[in-house]
Amino acid sequence: MGQRKIGLSNGARTRHRLPEGSEPRRPGVLGVPLAPHATALTPECLLALCSTERAVSEVDRTHIEAPRGSERSCRGWAQEGALRLLMNNLDPEVARDPAHLIVYGGRGKAARDWGAYDRIVATLRELGDEETLLVQSGKPVGVFPTHRDAPRVLIANALLVPHWATDEVFWDLEARGLTMYGQMTAGSWIYIGTQGILQGTYETLASLARVEFQQNDLQGRWLLSSGLGEMGGAQPLATTMLAGSALVCDVDPRAIRRRLEKGYVDVQARDLDDGLARVATAIADRRPVSVGLEANAAEVYPELVRRGRTPDIVSDQTAAHDLAVGYIPLGLTVESAARSRERDPEGYRRRVLDSIATECRAIIELQRRGAKAFDYGNSFRAQARTAGVADAFDIPGYVPKYIRPLFAVGSGPFRWVALSGDAKDIRAIDSRILREFSTDESLCRWIRLASERVQFQGLPARICYMGYGARERFGHLVNEMVASGELAAPIAIGRDHHDTGSVASPYRETEAMADGSDAIADWPILNALLNAVSGASWVSVHHGGGVGIGNSIHAGLVIVADGSSDADRRIGRVLHNDPGLGVARHADAGYPASAAVARTARFRIP
Ligand SMILES: NC(=O)c1ccc[n+]([C@@H]2O[C@H](COP(=O)([O-])OP(=O)(O)OC[C@H]3O[C@@H](n4cnc5c(N)ncnc54)[C@H](O)[C@@H]3O)[C@@H](O)[C@H]2O)c1
Repeated sequence: MGQRKIGLSNGARTRHRLPEGSEPRRPGVLGVPLAPHATALTPECLLALCSTERAVSEVDRTHIEAPRGSERSCRGWAQEGALRLLMNNLDPEVARDPAHLIVYGGRGKAARDWGAYDRIVATLRELGDEETLLVQSGKPVGVFPTHRDAPRVLIANALLVPHWATDEVFWDLEARGLTMYGQMTAGSWIYIGTQGILQGTYETLASLARVEFQQNDLQGRWLLSSGLGEMGGAQPLATTMLAGSALVCDVDPRAIRRRLEKGYVDVQARDLDDGLARVATAIADRRPVSVGLEANAAEVYPELVRRGRTPDIVSDQTAAHDLAVGYIPLGLTVESAARSRERDPEGYRRRVLDSIATECRAIIELQRRGAKAFDYGNSFRAQARTAGVADAFDIPGYVPKYIRPLFAVGSGPFRWVALSGDAKDIRAIDSRILREFSTDESLCRWIRLASERVQFQGLPARICYMGYGARERFGHLVNEMVASGELAAPIAIGRDHHDTGSVASPYRETEAMADGSDAIADWPILNALLNAVSGASWVSVHHGGGVGIGNSIHAGLVIVADGSSDADRRIGRVLHNDPGLGVARHADAGYPASAAVARTARFRIP
């Protein structure tokens, strides 16, 4: 196999786009244009200019874009991969609020502040192949001599001694510039935009179809849900991708319009009657449809109970985890809710809880009548219990029911990014998967649908669920494709921290473990240590991602396939060991499917 030559450029090809309509910067003091009459500057003047300069750089900061192509500005592809993915996390197509380094998920950041970002970038550009950069909560704190097979970057984000791991302490330390909230893939530089939640929702519903209906898709079934926001907006498309129909209500007409524009919702219903009629016709005609309905969930769900209309599946994706702003109570619009919460925060909170309770009771009744109900990680059940619904936890969490069977055999969300920036690289890998993994029906269906319907954000990427054994095989295949020149540049292979052996999170990933080990956080630490000694390109350990401070500890990794035999050896270890630990963790907890995989695995359980 011919080794591809991938060059070293003189400088990074970082493209800085100016916002639409803005002028390119002209020379002057600190880059700020001087007025023609300005001859001497008072200290106040200079101060004003400095703050203008800060504002100008802030504008520029919102237009970071990762370099593309096969030439690198770093000394190795592992460093270049880290540099490009850090920048990609802050690409305005990818990040929610790049000016403040916020990538996604509340305040999940890629670096502590702009000074830290600049120092990380500069360090990655000069980092040798026998050195490791340490990043402490988004700030570079040291470069140490290591060896070729060691990770080039080690990251620890938001970790606190358990007794101090409260919102109050954390956000105070954060405000003092001592730490950073890294979410899961924000601070570990492997976020790829909304494709992630679309795939996660698709996989959850596909598993639900298998577990509850013994079907491979949702043909003939319909979902009732609410919330068409950043994450919830994935529900209607994921349902139709699985040949099911969906009726999803949102109180905010803008959220519905946005989803219509992006093709995540097919049509908007005039009213509930219209919505129900469209879903019924779609099922009768076997032509799946997703319908957006402008309405409050606390009104729609009880109304369905009254009418005796039971959906096949019922859930909720309002931002119920945040009582202050995430759930609009009955009778209010987004605007009147804002006024109400400002006028009387306590009264507003009571109204929110009352509405959540009303919706929750309706869900439980629909469940009693045969609907498959689940909580999709938005703390809906916990809020309902606070609101007085004692049996709120009769609604199962989505992980124990639908995702655990996948985690148990080492399967979880797995992703890869084309460092070339060329979508053709992702398409070539899609085709290769369809050939090499043709017996995995669910995987192939997703790859086909994603290649037709997913728009890339930032560097082109793909995500899917892949398990123990398959990930390693995939990694070798991709490395071979880079080596042969079939791909334009190396591929970064990584995953979410929400994975099989990498997270302890009792309200989500490790809820209701068979042996009660929900809160045991040794596993994610072992996961990070194992990935580091196995030779991942960068490894991270975080606290608080997904479910907030105090509630989770998790780890991540990325490995760059640059086509070298060196990378191939590392891939063989990392992509075997990482999901292997997931199998071992679940075998230890007593899952028979995990023990079965472990019996024929390449690792041993003593
Ligand atoms: N399971 C997971 O892996 C996972 C992943 C990401 C997010 N989440 C959770 O999902 C929730 C939603 O996230 P998001 O990013 O979409 O939030 P978001 O704030 O972007 O959207 C919430 C939407 O709910 C609507 N809404 C609020 N109250 C309503 C009501 N009473 N009736 C109908 N619609 C109402 C809002 O108008 C808004 O459009 C969050 O709680 C988040 O933490 C779970």
